[in-house]
Amino acid sequence: MQDNIEIIKQTKEFVKQRLTGECSGHDWWHVVRVYNNAREIAKRETSADIFVVALSALLHDVADHKFGFSDDDRRNIITDFLARLQVQSEIIEHVVYIVNNISFKRGTNQHKMTTIEGQIVQDADRLDAIGAIGIARTFTFGGHFNRPMFNPEFDTNIVGQDNHTNDDTISHFYEKLLLLKDKMNTASGREFAIIRHQRMEEYLANFYSEWNGEL
Ligand code: ADP
Ligand code: NI
Repeated sequence: MQDNIEIIKQTKEFVKQRLTGECSGHDWWHVVRVYNNAREIAKRETSADIFVVALSALLHDVADHKFGFSDDDRRNIITDFLARLQVQSEIIEHVVYIVNNISFKRGTNQHKMTTIEGQIVQDADRLDAIGAIGIARTFTFGGHFNRPMFNPEFDTNIVGQDNHTNDDTISHFYEKLLLLKDKMNTASGREFAIIRHQRMEEYLANFYSEWNGEL
């Protein structure tokens, strides 16, 4: 097996090359933020294997389901890449397991990550979906897919629904983003999420005030 530092370096180059130019919120810099969040949480979770955390964070969006890739496609792409770097097969299996189970998938993914490494990377990805960055990503996504910013005629009482028909970006907060704080796996992930959740609550309150003509 090659040196872990060299493997991480090559993985960064591989992911950067695949995701550069992606502009719906899953770009290379999203990966960098998730990688940094994951390492920050992992430092506080002493039993975690940092190498697995790092590889999974870097590879978690290389073949997203939103762009037509299946779980098998993702498994093949990641396995081919890591096997070429002579990463041990148990580590490859663990990374594939994490990457294939990380997604929120409109609330339908009931799978609970069974390993601490998976829990950390999932928390790190969820942290990047909320707070100031989460707000920016969500409006970027909405613009990319031609969604209206807000339609006040829509019912926002859709918390927990996975089949709603609202297509405005504000509805996404109720569909997903405001639910994430209570879905965190680790204690430190939860701590960070509470702060970011508050930022979204404040943002929405300000958004509605301004929308309603308050100066
Ligand atoms: P996951 O990878 O957990 O399944 P997605 O790929 O669906 O999550 O979403 C990642 C990010 O893309 C969300 O956190 C959000 O910022 C943005 N996004 C996804 N769906 C929507 C939507 N319907 N409206 C606005 N933003 C969205
Ligand atoms: Ni992600």
